[in-house]
Amino acid sequence: MNYYVLTLFPEMIESGMNTSIIGRAIAGGYLSLETVNIRDYSLTGNGRIDDYPYGGGAGMVMQAEPIYRAYEDLVQRIGKRPRVVYLTPQGRVFDQHMAEELAQEEDLIFLCGHYEGVDERVLEEIVTDHVSIGDYVLTGGELPAMVMMDSIARMVPGVLSNQESGQYESFQDGLLEYPQYSRPEEWRGKQVPPVLLSGHHGNVDRWRRDQSLLRTLKNRPELLERAELDKKDRRYLQSLLDEEGTQQDANGLTAEEEKFLAKLLAI
Ligand code: ADE
Repeated sequence: MNYYVLTLFPEMIESGMNTSIIGRAIAGGYLSLETVNIRDYSLTGNGRIDDYPYGGGAGMVMQAEPIYRAYEDLVQRIGKRPRVVYLTPQGRVFDQHMAEELAQEEDLIFLCGHYEGVDERVLEEIVTDHVSIGDYVLTGGELPAMVMMDSIARMVPGVLSNQESGQYESFQDGLLEYPQYSRPEEWRGKQVPPVLLSGHHGNVDRWRRDQSLLRTLKNRPELLERAELDKKDRRYLQSLLDEEGTQQDANGLTAEEEKFLAKLLAI
């Protein structure tokens, strides 16, 4: 996977990406990263790339031509026209599915905006994908681009070691991941759940699956509606409902969670 980033802050991208697992993957040749400083394509030659918005209003707008020149120079150099992702809160919301899809590409260009926005005409001319990383507004596209590149890279062969690729499985099967524990067995009075010390793999697997179901119910119930639930999953969820109202209720479902679950299991 070859990443190209058009940005006013190349050092931010370089320092963020040349670190940890992604840095190792770049050093190992599994990924490549090239940043292009849009400022180098300033019309005036003095580094200025923004101007006042037509129609008035606060802030500045990044001009079309410097971005277009930066893009054209890049595509001429690499000899192809990869997909161009523009990071914007107005885009389609990024998720694991989109990460998997983009990981199939050989090259990706990310365009990071700043200030109040970017002249619409250059977006119409070069952008293939408008993407948001969530419903909040950031000061620029650099952090969203890094978020996307990180999660896409995880799916590129060779980037994760075998051990690492087994981790962070959340969303892989539509459920959130179960809790993890390591030594010591007791920490500040808190015990590791006994089943994990039992050595009984079947029971450990079942417990983990149940914990995934419980977490998903509590934190992201809408994911449960789309997850594939088998008989044992449904039996566990039913047991949560049956516990409700009794004193041994360890899972403490709220009335709202109980209502959601009852409806889900009725289907
Ligand atoms: N630029 C500013 N905020 C953003 C967001 N939430 N997602 C993508 N790009 C952005």
